[in-house]
Order: sequence, then C-alpha cells, then structure tokens
Amino acid sequence: MSTSLLITGATLADGTRSDLYLADGVLADPASAPADVERFDADGLRALPGLVDLHTHLRQPGREDAETIASGTAAAARGGFTCVHAMANTSPVTDTAEAAEYVAELAEREAHCEVRVVGAITKGLDGAELAELGLMAHSAAGVRVFSDDGRCVGDSQLMRRALSYVKSFDGVVAQHSQDPRLAGPGACCHESEWSGRLGLPGWPSQAESVIVARDVQLAELTDSRVHVCHVSTAESVDVIRWAKARGIRVTAEVTPHHLLLDTPLVAGYDTTFKVNPPLRTSEHLEAVRDALADGTIDAVATDHAPHARQDKDHPFDIALPGMLGLEQALAVVLEVMVNSGRMDWPTLVERMSAAPARIGRVPGQGRPLAVGEPANLVLADPSARSTVDASASRSRSRNNPYDGRDLPDPVVATFHRGVPTYRR
Ligand code: DOR
Repeated sequence: MSTSLLITGATLADGTRSDLYLADGVLADPASAPADVERFDADGLRALPGLVDLHTHLRQPGREDAETIASGTAAAARGGFTCVHAMANTSPVTDTAEAAEYVAELAEREAHCEVRVVGAITKGLDGAELAELGLMAHSAAGVRVFSDDGRCVGDSQLMRRALSYVKSFDGVVAQHSQDPRLAGPGACCHESEWSGRLGLPGWPSQAESVIVARDVQLAELTDSRVHVCHVSTAESVDVIRWAKARGIRVTAEVTPHHLLLDTPLVAGYDTTFKVNPPLRTSEHLEAVRDALADGTIDAVATDHAPHARQDKDHPFDIALPGMLGLEQALAVVLEVMVNSGRMDWPTLVERMSAAPARIGRVPGQGRPLAVGEPANLVLADPSARSTVDASASRSRSRNNPYDGRDLPDPVVATFHRGVPTYRR
C-alpha cells in the first residue's frame, strides 16, 4: 500500500537540499502536502533515485533453498534497490515466453521491488540454439535483456544472430565473457603467481578480453547493443574503451566485489571468495575503478549469487562460484569510489541507477527525484558504518564476502513506488 509521506531536509545527489512529498506512488509538490501528513526528518541524509541492478540471481524457480524472489528482493530493498534484473539460469531456465511470464507473475505477487526478467540467449543455456528471443520480448514480461550468464555464448555465428534478432525490439545481449577453452569449467583462480602457489586451475584475464574483443566487433557488424557482464580485467577495459571511441554500441558493468576484493583473499581456500570471473589482482582492480570513474564502465551490477551451504562446503575447485552482493553494493561503491575521492555523488547515481535503467530499457526507474516521477528512492546516511554480519542478511544464503568487514552502512530507508520496502 502506497503511503503519503513528507521527507524533509534531504540532500540530493547534487548537494542541494529539498523536501520530497511521496503521494500515491509518485513525487508530488511538497507545498501541496496536508499539514497533518506523516513526516520523515532526513536532515543529514542523501536522497537518491532507487538503485537498479542489471544482474541478480534470484534462484526461483528451482533453488528456493538458496534464494527466492521474496528473499532476494528483500535483500535488494535493504541495499537501496528498487529494481533488479532476474538472471535466466534458473531451473527450468528462463528461455521461453511462458517461463518469463511465470517469473514476472511471481514477482508481481511476492517481490519487494520491480523485477525485470532476463531471458536466456540459447535454449537451456547450452550455447547451441537460440531461445525464443522475440516471443520473450513480446510477452507480458517484456524482456529486453538476454543473457546466458554463468555460461558464455562461445559460438560466434550464434552470437551474431542473437545480436541481429534483439535489435528489432531494442534488446541487448548481456554476455558472460569467458573463452570456454582458455578458462574451462575447472578454472577458478586468477592466473597469476597465486594460482601457481595455491595449486588452483588458472583463469587468465585474456579469457575474458578475447571474448569482449570478439563481441564488440560483432556488435559493430550488426549495429546492435552488446553489454559486457562483470568486467574484471584491465585488458577488457582497454577493449571497451577502444570500442566506445569507435562508436560501437557497447555498455559494461563491474561488480562491487571486483572493485574491492583481490586474489590473495582466496589463499585460505574459503569458498565464499570463489566467484566467476575470479577475484583479480590489484592492477586489474585499479583499472576497473578508473573505468567506472571515467564512464568506460557504465554501471555497477551486483551479480548477487546466493548459494546454499551444501554447494559451498566443498574443496575450492569443486564449490559453486558466486557471492552475495545486493545488501553491500552501495556500501562498497561508497567506500571504494566516493570516500576515496574518485567519484562524486551524481556519478554514483548515474552508475547505480540511471545507466542500468537505460541499458535495461526500464521506464520509471533511474529517474531524477522530481515532481511527477515515480517515488522510487533511497535515503542514505553517508557517515554511518558497521561491521557486516552475514547472519543478519535478508538473503536465504550466507555466502557474503564482506562478513566481518567494517564498511559504510548507508541505507536508512528504501521506497518503491512510494511504498517503504526497507526502514532501518
Ligand atoms: O560466480 C558466478 N556465479 N558467476 C556467474 O556468472 C554466475 C553466478 C551464479 O549463477 O552462481
């Protein structure tokens, strides 16, 4: 149920102060608020447009023991998100219009934020035959982002055809860039002195960038939109920078963990730190931070990947890859990018709200906090900090790589279409 609420004295991203009046799910003129309206004192807080995640694994249907649409979107709201994109690697895979509509209907009933459905590029994510791209796009789910995430579309001709198809309905192909031969199924550690020392199969950075290089050229060939998921290497950044300078329609995302966490963390063989692509070394972290600051990388996306304990309690090379991300995403970007002076607040809003909404073609998200716009917003305390406690998560899973870390703890309240979805 939508509330009427007058938020007073909030500081907007650009530093100006403003009252915000939430009425019937939209932002209304504060001067029109009745005298007895409920008030929220936001003195000292930043009011930002609700965050938008392009890359979320909600695990429903199929692995409700790890996450559900309800629990994953509750975590999203706790993290300040008002929209997430639900990845297609569920069981069954979201590769038909019916499957996409099923997820959209579930979300309509159970989610704590807007859920946009991501459709698979290939049937069953098997990389052999295109999925029902057009039917998913024209279904009630209105799919615009297509991804086999978790797997890379290795067949160049199939990738070319996917790009050609999605162009007709302004879709985007979001690629998990991992050369299947250079970084095969066993690869689990950034190829470096660390993989050698730890005896873990190496995942060279070029296994990512060779696919990025191929895909941007296919995007140019088809004049279509390609999006690079979880960029983790300096070489990929160079390729994307080159492609953008050439006018190729490429966008890219970086995860919070690839901004903050580095390869030496895997030295204890703690499978919480196993993720795909793997945590990289400091020179790569510096490259993706610079790229996020200068816009070569357009967006932050969490790759929130909950896993049940029984899928992580294995030797490092066997455990499933993936880590949680929704609840600490804003904290990590604040710490690494804003508190360090690399990025200002308006750029943070662009990278975590406006750009992902544009890439996913999501109307009503990523919009400025202006009268008449949907009341999707987050109130953030820039100075609050706490020690992350994985057991306090709203997610069903506990594979939180920030557990025990001192980090900003900014999110005070989140509103989706005027409804409070999280309040500290
Ligand atoms: O670490 C990862 N886990 N990377 C992916 O691309 C997929 C994800 C998952 O689904 O668990």
